[in-house]
Amino acid sequence: MKDFLKLQDLSADEINQLIDLAINLKFKQDNRIKHDYLLNKTMGMIFTKSSTRTRVSFEVGIKQLGGSAIFLNANDIQLGRGESIADTARVLERYLDLIMIRTFSQNDVEELAKYASIPIINGLTDYCHPTQIIADLMTVKEVKGDLKGKKLCYIGDGNNVANSLIVGCIKTGMAISLSCPEGFYPDQKLIDWAKENGEFEIGPDPFALVANADAVYTDVFVSMGQEKTVEQRKLAFRDYQVNNKLLSCANKSAIVLHCLPAHKGEEIAENTFEAHAKTIFDEAENRLHAHKAIMQTLFQDKF
Ligand code: CP
Ligand code: NVA
Repeated sequence: MKDFLKLQDLSADEINQLIDLAINLKFKQDNRIKHDYLLNKTMGMIFTKSSTRTRVSFEVGIKQLGGSAIFLNANDIQLGRGESIADTARVLERYLDLIMIRTFSQNDVEELAKYASIPIINGLTDYCHPTQIIADLMTVKEVKGDLKGKKLCYIGDGNNVANSLIVGCIKTGMAISLSCPEGFYPDQKLIDWAKENGEFEIGPDPFALVANADAVYTDVFVSMGQEKTVEQRKLAFRDYQVNNKLLSCANKSAIVLHCLPAHKGEEIAENTFEAHAKTIFDEAENRLHAHKAIMQTLFQDKF
């Protein structure tokens, strides 16, 4: 694994190994077992969009691995004034050992990886959110013991998180169903791929699609960059809330996942969120362990 740009680039084995490594690193962290595998490595973190979890967990994660991080607001570096991605890549690779980037365009992330010889991690684009899904699958594995044969149901917007969930679930042998209103479906190429490669369902009726789900997942109706379409979206998604009525149609022991931040009362009812808060915040914690696993794996050939 040279970079971590999208889950399509990883084999099923690589995804499973990342999840298992994350679980192992969590054990080491909890038991104060030394794991400074990235001693003296420096990561640059470029952000064009806001972040709480991704920013803090990557920075804390590399510190726990013995390295350090520099936060680079895209507007504060010359990239924000038009310096090309190719030139930015060829400069930053001379100072840094690793770059994590959160931005709008997936092409920009791929371009950064093309020009930089150091590993690049995608910390979210409009197209996908691959680091999130390693933490999500890790959380399912912790609770359910195994991924293969389990079913995840995603309710709401067919966005970046949904795109990555499709790939992550299918590659790890999980069944995935998605219920999204018409016009808000995930990437069509991923839908076609998923239909050919695993157990996949999509449609407009959340009550039908949530049947037999072991995990029910939702995300905001309005992602970063879509603020102008708030009213249109609120209308389109009004029947797509994860609440107790919907959960009563899933498996009795179904867990609820949310990548956060949550808009309670919109994509998830407040009482449902609070009833499942333990798992949702475990999922948020697992970003830390998942990111450490991704960073360690990107360097493992160099140990
Ligand atoms: N889930 C997630 O990526 O959160 P942040 O936007 O806070 O990083
Ligand atoms: N879909 C959301 C995820 C935030 C972590 C967004 O892109 O804003």
